[in-house]
Amino acid sequence: MRGVRGHRRPLGGGVARLILPLAIAALCGVTPAAGLMESGVARLTRGAGVAQSGSRPCGRCHSSEFALWSQHPHSHALIDPQTDPRRITARWGRRVPGWREYVEGRFQREQVVRAFGVGFYQVYFRADPDGHRLLPACWHLTERRWLPLPAELARVEKEGATWGERCAGCHTTGYRPVERTSDELNVGCTACHGDGAEHLASEGRTPMLRPALLEPKRSAEVCGACHSRGIDPVTGAPYAARFRPGAVLGDTFRVMAATPEGDAWFWPGGVERLPYMEYQGFLQSAHFRGGLRCTSCHLPHGSQYGKALVRRTEELCTECHTGGGARGPVHLRHPAGSAGCVDCHMAVVNPGSDWVPVRTHSLRFLEPKQAQATGMPSSCTTAACHADRGAAWAAEVVRAWRQPP
Ligand code: HEC
Ligand code: HEC
Ligand code: HEC
Ligand code: HEC
Ligand code: HEC
Ligand code: HEC
Ligand code: HEC
Repeated sequence: MRGVRGHRRPLGGGVARLILPLAIAALCGVTPAAGLMESGVARLTRGAGVAQSGSRPCGRCHSSEFALWSQHPHSHALIDPQTDPRRITARWGRRVPGWREYVEGRFQREQVVRAFGVGFYQVYFRADPDGHRLLPACWHLTERRWLPLPAELARVEKEGATWGERCAGCHTTGYRPVERTSDELNVGCTACHGDGAEHLASEGRTPMLRPALLEPKRSAEVCGACHSRGIDPVTGAPYAARFRPGAVLGDTFRVMAATPEGDAWFWPGGVERLPYMEYQGFLQSAHFRGGLRCTSCHLPHGSQYGKALVRRTEELCTECHTGGGARGPVHLRHPAGSAGCVDCHMAVVNPGSDWVPVRTHSLRFLEPKQAQATGMPSSCTTAACHADRGAAWAAEVVRAWRQPP
């Protein structure tokens, strides 16, 4: 019914022109395949799995938002094998390489009550009387093989923690830890727009929260509630279950801060090193100080570009940085078309890890000199760029470039 017309994005624009064709494509059953491949959503089955969701009634009047959202991983942050069996793509037979090691005698498909993961790793939960617990292996969706759980999740499994204790606050909407119930078993409309009961009852006359009207920090907090690491100081949960969109995140959630010397969550200097810490990276950036929000770069409901970006990666930065930031000496050494803005300013912070790859939202150029000293990744020696040269080589090159002529 409505696109995101009627509000302005800082320094951006042109979003509406993107939404309409995409929504029409989605409604006509044309899957924007290329974009979804880019975003790594493996084997997406159009329309499946959202029928049971609490967001469906919203789609009756907001069809374009609903169509986009149905293709965004948010709408599949939790997979119910009963209603959406085709998304459980792992092989559960006896003749699977690697299967013996991780699977045999330990679990079967019939045990799976919930699954997470549409991008890289798919993890499974079994139902115990006191809550859902992780099964001890995961399925790599693109490599199509069983693997041990990523180290972080393996610890959760060993500790025997339940999904309610560790996961449900971010992979479902409106999770209530005491009752152990959710409003919706995925990241639905009301996760970002607040309670929808009155709006539904009044056929849309009672207003919903419009994040576009929030000041930038409040808007980023809507996303930061799940895209950050921290602790609820009252319940001790690692998610912000008491937060409501539009409120001050800090009132109900203590977002973890970087330590200068670094720790398991941050590299020395404060660059984030694990998944779902985008908000924490963003808070350190010139973009946050300059009044940007997450939706300056990501469409909230979805887009045809990877990671729901507002435009393709190569055009994203230069839309605002029309000069390309081309004054810096490092810029001058790289002809257009070789290294992209994101390669240097949003390098992957956990290369070679067993967890989903993430790019820093701090915008920091990861200095090879610091990489040499601390073992953190550098923007120069990534898998895509000069992987074969060491950090020492890169540090020397960058140092030479910075010498005044
Ligand atoms: C603080 C919020 C939060 C908590 C708590 C959380 N997650 Fe997530 N999870 C996310 C976000 C956000 C992503 C998307 C990746 C990113 O933002 O870097 C994600 C991604 C994932 C993925 C990758 C999905 C894919 O498509 O490849 C898996 C698997 C996953 N989480 C499992 C879990 C499990 C299991 C738990 C509980 C032990 C858990 N998560 C707890 C927010 C959370
Ligand atoms: C991940 C968070 C998120 C989810 C989930 C989400 N939205 Fe939104 N929505 C936003 C944000 C943020 C904006 C404002 C866009 C901006 O800031 O540029 C918005 C804008 C809108 C608008 C336009 C309001 C205006 O300000 O003009 C409508 C209508 C809307 N969303 C409906 C929906 C519906 C229906 C769903 C579920 C199918 C949904 N949204 C799911 C975050 C979300
Ligand atoms: C019966 C139709 C209908 C349903 C169902 C419906 N809406 Fe709306 N919605 C409207 C109308 C009408 C408006 C006001 C449109 C305008 O001002 O242009 C609106 C506006 C909005 C806005 C913009 C803020 C505002 O209040 O103007 C958001 C966000 C939104 N709806 C989200 C939702 C969500 C989330 C759901 C599901 C919980 C939902 N809507 C269900 C009809 C509906
Ligand atoms: C209720 C928790 C929650 C909220 C609120 C939330 N997210 Fe997410 N988000 C997730 C989870 C969980 C995933 C991972 C889903 C998966 O891959 O299974 C995710 C994935 C993503 C992705 C990855 C998309 C892709 O194609 O891989 C982007 C981008 C994203 N979120 C942006 C946002 C933005 C922007 C906002 C705020 C407007 C927001 N999220 C609000 C939980 C949340
Ligand atoms: C300056 C633009 C920009 C802003 C602002 C921004 N992002 Fe991103 N984001 C990107 C780009 C570029 C990527 C990488 C896309 C790719 O891999 O192709 C990305 C990737 C992601 C991913 C995928 C996992 C990862 O970390 O690489 C998530 C989730 C995400 N962003 C969420 C957010 C959230 C939440 C906010 C606000 C706190 C935010 N982003 C702000 C540009 C931005
Ligand atoms: C919506 C507009 C917008 C987009 C899109 C955008 N930027 Fe920015 N960028 C800004 C603003 C505003 C500032 C702050 C300018 C200032 O304060 O001088 C900034 C500042 C920066 C800085 C300066 C850092 C510093 O410490 O001074 C870097 C680097 C940067 N952006 C890189 C990027 C990259 C890389 C992308 C693409 C992933 C990008 N920007 C996308 C608007 C944008
Ligand atoms: C080869 C790596 C590399 C690439 C590619 C790159 N940058 Fe930079 N950029 C840097 C470094 C390093 C700095 C810091 C200046 C310095 O220390 O030399 C910087 C500084 C900046 C600044 C701060 C202001 C300034 O001019 O000094 C902005 C803005 C910026 N870059 C934007 C961009 C944009 C937009 C792109 C893509 C068109 C881009 N950068 C591509 C490495 C890179």
